[in-house]
This record gives sequence, structure tokens and C-alpha cells, in this order.
Amino acid sequence: MRLKNKIAIVTGGGSGFGEGIAKRFSVEGCKVVINDINMQGGTRVAKEIQSEGGDAIFVNADISLNEGWASLVGQAVEKYGSFSIVVNNAGFTHKNQSMFTVSEENYDRIYAVNVKSLYWSAKNVASILEKTGGGVMITVASVAGIRPRPGLTWYNGSKAAAITTSRSMAVELAPKKIRVNIINPVMGETAMLEDFMGMPDTPDNRKKFLDTIPLGRLARASDVANAALYLASDEAELITGACIEVDGGRTI
Ligand SMILES: NC(=O)c1ccc[n+]([C@@H]2O[C@H](COP(=O)([O-])OP(=O)(O)OC[C@H]3O[C@@H](n4cnc5c(N)ncnc54)[C@H](O)[C@@H]3O)[C@@H](O)[C@H]2O)c1
Repeated sequence: MRLKNKIAIVTGGGSGFGEGIAKRFSVEGCKVVINDINMQGGTRVAKEIQSEGGDAIFVNADISLNEGWASLVGQAVEKYGSFSIVVNNAGFTHKNQSMFTVSEENYDRIYAVNVKSLYWSAKNVASILEKTGGGVMITVASVAGIRPRPGLTWYNGSKAAAITTSRSMAVELAPKKIRVNIINPVMGETAMLEDFMGMPDTPDNRKKFLDTIPLGRLARASDVANAALYLASDEAELITGACIEVDGGRTI
């Protein structure tokens, strides 16, 4: 087991990539604190992990807010004593559309969830990770942050900010033995898919996107989870500030 006796927080763990990461970590012996604002999804994932013999709790908290992180960290420490892995996975997007029609409210939400969450995450977890002798933070950003598609301008920018912020955190947190790495998935089969496509998810419409991915398929939760597993494990002990593209060659 590659994460035996470790404890991880996974934000946005109630569906999609976060669900895949939480479940994969559990199979590898990790206790998992699943966070989401989706009560139903988060509760379901925690229950499914428990029914497979894993150890997990669900914490309903908004990770764009300091209070959300304080509650999340508080409940993780209360249940498990500490933790050494934090996966900043929760994300938000506007639907694919002209950059001029995205509302200010949506813009602010995108930056709050995709970027400001890293600020609150670092402020709330770094001292705890340092006390346990170091730890791992993983940001689920996106290929959108390095190879932007039209129609997702404000989301693309937020993911670029998340990537650079995480790389800078990697340097600043290295003396505390905290590694910070990034995963950039290509478009995936999750709840966000139709927002990214900006059109119904029909076979014809999907083909337009698949044609731009050399390996010819979308990302699955298991693809992102496998990358997260490597980065979270001791096998990656010299890896920090790295971006792993889980993209079938899309960004080449
Ligand atoms: N699906 C894709 O095509 C794709 C591609 C590249 C990157 N990503 C990124 O992957 C990450 C996971 O997204 P997904 O595709 O699994 O979508 P998803 O909608 O299935 O999962 C995102 C989860 O984050 C939760 N969430 C949103 N705001 C939150 C908040 N403030 N606090 C706590 N939880 C919150 C949602 O409730 C949801 O359960 C996101 O950061 C997304 O930007 C997705």
C-alpha cells in the first residue's frame, strides 16, 4: 500500500476527479477527509469508502473561505489527530461563452474557488504539515492554464494563476519539507464537461474535442487519481513544483 497510515484532505471530493482521488487513496491505505459543498455527493463518497473497509469522513465546507478551511482542518484534526496530504481539487467554471458575457459574480466565484482557496489552504494547513515533519500539497489545475481554449477565458486565467501560485508555494514551502505539485487534466468525463464544451455532450460534439487529444480520449477520474497517488507518495519525495499533464498529449 503506497499511502499506508497517511491522512489526506481532498477538496471537492464529492464527485468527479476528487471522488476518484479519495477512493484511490483509500485503497492505498490512506484515511481520507472528503470535503465538498455538495452534501449528498460528499456523504455518498465517504459512505462508499467506508463500505469498502476504508476510513473516511465528510466535511461540508466552502474552501473559498477562511472559515471553511478552519472548519475543515478542525474536523480533520479532531478525527485523525493530523494529516500530511492536502489535495486542492475543488473547482468552478463559467460555461463556455464569450468573455464579455460572463457576469462579475461568476468571475469572482471562479477566482474565489480556483485561486483564493490556495491562499486560505496554505494559511490553514502549512503549519500543521510542518509540525508533522513535512507533507504534500497537490493542486488540480488544468491544461486550460497552459493551453487555453476560446470561450473559457476567465477560467483559463484562474488556472494559470493556480499553477504559478502553486509553483511559487513549492519554493517557499520547501524549507518546511512541504512539496507542492500540480496536475493539469485535459477535459474529463465529470459534471463540468458540458460547461467546458459549451454544447450538449452528444457523440458528434464530443468528437470535436477528442480530435484535439492525440491519445483520443477524455480524462477519467482514475487517470487523475493515479497521478495524484504518485505525487502524494514517498516515491515522489524529490518532486516539487512539477506540473503533470494528464492530457493524452493535448498540450504538445
Ligand atoms: N472535468 C474537466 O474537464 C476538468 C479538466 C481540467 C481540470 N478540471 C478541474 O478538476 C477539478 C475537479 O473538477 P471535476 O471535473 O471533477 O468537476 P466536478 O464538478 O465533478 O467536481 C468539482 C467538485 O468541487 C466542489 N466544489 C465546488 N466549489 C467548492 C467549494 N467552494 N468548496 C468545496 N467544494 C467545492 C463541487 O461541489 C464538486 O463536487 C476542478 O478544479 C476542475 O477545474 C476539470
